[in-house]
This record gives sequence, structure tokens and C-alpha cells, in this order.
Amino acid sequence: MDTLRSKVLEQISAVTDEATLEDLRVSTVGKKGEVSLKMRELGRMTPEERQVAGPALNALKDEVNAALTAKKAALADAVLNERLKTEWLDVTLPGRGRVAGTIHPVSQVTDEVTAIFADMGFGVAEGPQIESDWHNFDALNIPSHHPARGEMDTFYMHRAEGDNRPPHVLRTHTSPVQIRSMLGQGAPIRVICPGRVYRADYDQTHTPMFHQVEGLAIDTDISMANLKWVLEEFVKAFFEVDDVELRFRASHFPFTEPSAEVDIRCSWEGGQLKVGEGDDWLEILGSGMVHPKVLEAGGIDAAKYQGFAFGMGIDRIAMLKYGIPDLRAFFDSDLRWLRNYGFSALDQPNLASGLSR
Ligand code: PHE
Repeated sequence: MDTLRSKVLEQISAVTDEATLEDLRVSTVGKKGEVSLKMRELGRMTPEERQVAGPALNALKDEVNAALTAKKAALADAVLNERLKTEWLDVTLPGRGRVAGTIHPVSQVTDEVTAIFADMGFGVAEGPQIESDWHNFDALNIPSHHPARGEMDTFYMHRAEGDNRPPHVLRTHTSPVQIRSMLGQGAPIRVICPGRVYRADYDQTHTPMFHQVEGLAIDTDISMANLKWVLEEFVKAFFEVDDVELRFRASHFPFTEPSAEVDIRCSWEGGQLKVGEGDDWLEILGSGMVHPKVLEAGGIDAAKYQGFAFGMGIDRIAMLKYGIPDLRAFFDSDLRWLRNYGFSALDQPNLASGLSR
């Protein structure tokens, strides 16, 4: 029994992994293990022999079990220590600098425009980019064979043969949101509608997708004078200059009457744009008094209400304000460009602390 005891204990202490330890447990104190088989021999002994061998064997069994349990715990500890050695972390190291993302100029300018018009009491309205032909054209007084449809280089949504639902287009301007606002909230209205618009066109200053912001004010006593004041306030705030001269040039849009395109006085001296001085004029938007037919399409009583509307290219005014030469780069997702022209996410444009920094 002493030989068996020292052999088993020696084997246990020599084990280095849990699987071998389990094998050893089975071959010693398992059902058919060496110690268990010895216990069976008790039956063949005389009562006197058994009185000595019984307790000794039980003690041996307890001792082996205890050694197995202790070894098992020691092995688990060793595994854990091994892991801790490779997974340690020096919490006293200084933090690693991360490259922060930047706000895209289009988002920045949209936020700036929104802040300026919010200050003048305008809310923000939105509409779908896949728009019904009716909202994009008919309701805006552009009937089916009107030349303006061709001029806009419209993307038409594909319709399967036999599908007779009314046609849809990728909206060519934000003006359909005028109609949606009128139908949705009724008069009076004071909103701007920023968003993506689409036209099949591509060069240094045109991309198939670009951004516009629409403005719409409807009430019982709105005139062109209100339009002029609102636009002057906007241009001064946006270009961050004290004074600026606007020029209203007679123009034509089917959805406004009268219509005007608006230019701002500027200089391009040394290739750099300066707003408010010089002898050049820069066109920045189209505008006019909402056509009575458009009010009617929007469910508004044209005998009682009138209003002004304007539409402006967000990308265009972003290029002008921040001196960005090529529109196409706006949509290339080139990180070097974004880091150069992007804005800090923490600088939220507002009129109190300044629009841009
Ligand atoms: N929708 C016109 C365009 O895209 C702009 C515009 C809007 C003109 C509102 C007048 C009034 O060119």
C-alpha cells in the first residue's frame, strides 16, 4: 500500500495538464482504478486483516482525492497566470492620439444656412428625393410638354411595361417641397427646405447629385420687399460681411411671377472672392413671388394669401465662401480633401459665437 501511495502521489505531482490529470484520476480512484480495485480485495480478507486495511485504504483514497483536487486548482491557476502574463496592460501609458473625423462643407453650410434662417423664424421642411412627376413639375406650373422639363435633364424612374402608376423622377430641385409644405400645413408658412437634387450633368461646376435649399414664406401681406430684406440679411450673415449689395435681375420661372435672379456685388481681385465690394456680380439664387397656380395646387386660397420663394445651390455657395475650386471633389470621399476642407465637429454654427471659425 505504501508503494502504491508514493507511486500515485508522485504521478500526480508530475502532471502538467488537466487532461492527463483526469486520466490519472480514472486510473486510480475511478471505478476500475488501482485504489478502487484494492478496496475490493477487502472482501477476501479476514475480519482482523480488514480492521487494519480498511481504514488505511480509506485514508489512502482520501489522500489521493485531495491531491487530485489540489493539483487541479494549481493547474487552473497556472493557466490563468500564463494568460495574465501575455494580456497585461500598462494603464499608466499616455493615451494614443486619434484622427478626428471632420464635418463635410455641404453639412457645414447647410447648418449655417439653417441657423441664419432659424433666427428669422423659418422652420425646416423636407421631402422625398424620389418625387412624383406631379410634385416636381405639374403642381409647380410646369405641364407635360413645357420646355423646362427638357432643360432640367431629368432622371426618370424606370417603370415596368404595363405599370400605369404615375411617373416618378429624381427631384430636379427642392421646389416640390413647397407643394408638400402647403398641402401639409396650410398657410401661413415660413420654411426652408434643404436637400439633395439630381440632374444629368457633369463638369467642374455640375454633378448629377447636388444640394439646394428652398425658401418659402406665405402670409396675407408678403411682398417682394420682404424677399429682398430676408435675402440681404441672409447674404450678410452667411458671407460674414457688414454690408452687401444685391441686384435683382428680371428672369423667368414657371412657378413664380414676377421672377428674379439675384446677384451679389463682389470682386475677384487676385483670384480671391470678396463679397460686398468690387465691380463684379455673382449669381447666387433664383426667386420670385409664388405663382397663384402654385398656391392653388398647394390648396391655398390665392385671393387671400401670397408669398415669396427662392432656391439656392448649397454646394455653390459653399465653394464661394470657402474657396473650393472643383465641385466634383465634394463627392469623391477623398480623406485628404475632407481633412483640408472639413470642419471640426465641435464647432456648431450659430449666430451668437460665429458661423465659421
Ligand atoms: N427651382 C429653381 C431651380 O432649381 C429655383 C427657384 C426656386 C426659383 C424658387 C424661384 C423660386 O432653378
